Amino acid sequence: MFGREKIELKTPDQVLLMRRAGLVVADALAAARAAAVPGATTADLDAVAAAVIADAGALPSFLGYYDYPATICVSVNDEVVHGIPSGRELQPGDVVSIDCGAIVEGWHGDSALTLVLPEADPADVALADLTERAMWDGIAALAADGGLADRLAVVGEAVEDAVAAADPVANGGVPFGIVQDYVGHGIGSAMHQPPDVLNYRARDRGPKLRPGMCLAIEPMITRGGHATEVLDDDWTVVTADGSRAAHWEHSVALHEGGIWVLTAVDGGAAELAARGVTVAPLG
Ligand code: MF3
Ligand code: CO
Repeated sequence: MFGREKIELKTPDQVLLMRRAGLVVADALAAARAAAVPGATTADLDAVAAAVIADAGALPSFLGYYDYPATICVSVNDEVVHGIPSGRELQPGDVVSIDCGAIVEGWHGDSALTLVLPEADPADVALADLTERAMWDGIAALAADGGLADRLAVVGEAVEDAVAAADPVANGGVPFGIVQDYVGHGIGSAMHQPPDVLNYRARDRGPKLRPGMCLAIEPMITRGGHATEVLDDDWTVVTADGSRAAHWEHSVALHEGGIWVLTAVDGGAAELAARGVTVAPLG
């Protein structure tokens, strides 16, 4: 998609603005997550997130993006990404993916999470946990020896390895699937920038990782196959086989000292420490 287009390298000051945007996104997602209870509508979640972003003096990045009509995406059950908030009422046991982006002084943050409502099917919980774990493994792979890994392909390798290592018994004996039609991306003065960040192995090792790069790492995993379709609303992406899907995403800064997760309140310290990576504070 982006080929060998130029990758925007941020200055430390620009990364600090992205950090502000990232923390607004983290707050908005936390509020939307808290509002995600059976009986709430997906539009209720959107209103909660919109209020947090407005109160912070930031702008929602999704609203108006190719005419997208809302502040967040809420994708339920077999919906993978880009579900449009509506009067749909959440049900017990629903798998709910919430994706949010915000802009501070022109700089973007983008993050997503998946929760499973009570009366959860354990296989859905396994799906959501696997997707989160695969995301953190992908983020951890960006770091090496107090610095940066060599090439971007390490992310897809780590995500694929995490999914391959998951026990199919947790999914009724069926292997989990990695969505390939949508990928992570560079982020900065726009939400979507080069490079593409694949969630699977590829022959191309990808661009060299450099300080100043900021990347959105966002695996989308299913309880079935990888194929997707887009509904007639021209937005909602669903699995072709009707299997349930999960989506986790963080925006990550690469800098001279190592990596920092811009959309995580602790910069990713806890999850990355568990993977042997020490995050490097900004500035
Ligand atoms: N935030 C999504 C992503 O993770 C894109 C949202 S598309 C929009 O890349 F139209 F809703 F903005
Ligand atoms: Co994204």
